[in-house]
Amino acid sequence: MLRTLSTLPFSVRIVEVGPRDGLQNEKAIIPTAQKIQFIQMLADAGLPVVEATSFVSPRAIPQLSDASEVMANLSRRSSTSYPVLVPNLRGMERALAAGVRAITVFTAASESFTRHNINATIAESLANFRPVIALAQQENITIRGYISTVFGCPYEGKVEPRQSLNVAQALLEMGVDELSLGDTIGIATPNQVVDVISLLVDDGAIPIKQIAVHFHDTRGTALANVLIALQSGISIIDSSAGGLGGCPFAPGAAGNLATEDLLYMLHGMGIHTGVDLDKVVAATNFITPLLGHTPTSKYYQAAISAC
Ligand code: COA
Ligand code: ZN
Repeated sequence: MLRTLSTLPFSVRIVEVGPRDGLQNEKAIIPTAQKIQFIQMLADAGLPVVEATSFVSPRAIPQLSDASEVMANLSRRSSTSYPVLVPNLRGMERALAAGVRAITVFTAASESFTRHNINATIAESLANFRPVIALAQQENITIRGYISTVFGCPYEGKVEPRQSLNVAQALLEMGVDELSLGDTIGIATPNQVVDVISLLVDDGAIPIKQIAVHFHDTRGTALANVLIALQSGISIIDSSAGGLGGCPFAPGAAGNLATEDLLYMLHGMGIHTGVDLDKVVAATNFITPLLGHTPTSKYYQAAISAC
């Protein structure tokens, strides 16, 4: 059931994904020391969660092949969580050795994307997570689960909301603490967001407090989707500093929803985040010369041209 504007959340928890989702899609390989500084600047900006890197196959994602060095040398703030992506037991063992305290497992709502991304069926991917999650629980590590292609798949097109519900229920049953619904190709429109969230919460009885949304701004609908998600009762939103990410092979194509654009909207609406927008701009400014292009965040571009 869609709620009215008066029930917008008092505060939103932002999950910053720039150092992982952003940098894995950038053409440039950022030196380890600069990655660490970028993560630390984002944490210093007050972001409560900074997704730091991925313990995946270096052949799949060469941009993040220094995950162990990044996590071993990061100065951590006690108030910040630094989750990392883990695809299998091998990744979990590497993550544990590097002192990781929060992980994210990832699968998708469509079979073809799962096959291309992690070389498994959805069922196989869930089976691979079982020992990972068991180990995480044993070590008291928090577990997030990404579901990609919730609103559309690059290979299959339309994705039925029920497919996301099935995956969401399986992940929660396994012990995942929080789910993030990913619009991997930036194709969602607000009506779809309502359809999916309603199905999960009403028919699937998934607690809304355990659901986050992860939008890409490829077609300019990310903030509209955030607003409708907030109105639907969601209060955890993923975003990427500067809007880092996008498709490295399509110049100018917008990627992840930019943290700056999200903060500008939320703060303008009186919604608390605990994040200092100027400090996020400073972090984006720090990483920009290493990327070889201007970040897509509209707020960032406006802030820089006003200087
Ligand atoms: N960390 C490091 N290396 C790993 C690894 C991990 N967690 N898991 C597997 N590998 C290595 C293997 O040792 C093997 O290396 P080799 O070819 O040099 O011997 C290679 O990766 C392939 O391993 P295999 O077990 O056959 O897996 P696969 O080829 O079926 O790939 C994944 C499966 C999940 C490991 C791989 O597809 C992957 O890492 N995908 C990540 C994609 C991603 O991060 N997408 C973005 C998130 S939405
Ligand atoms: Zn993303």
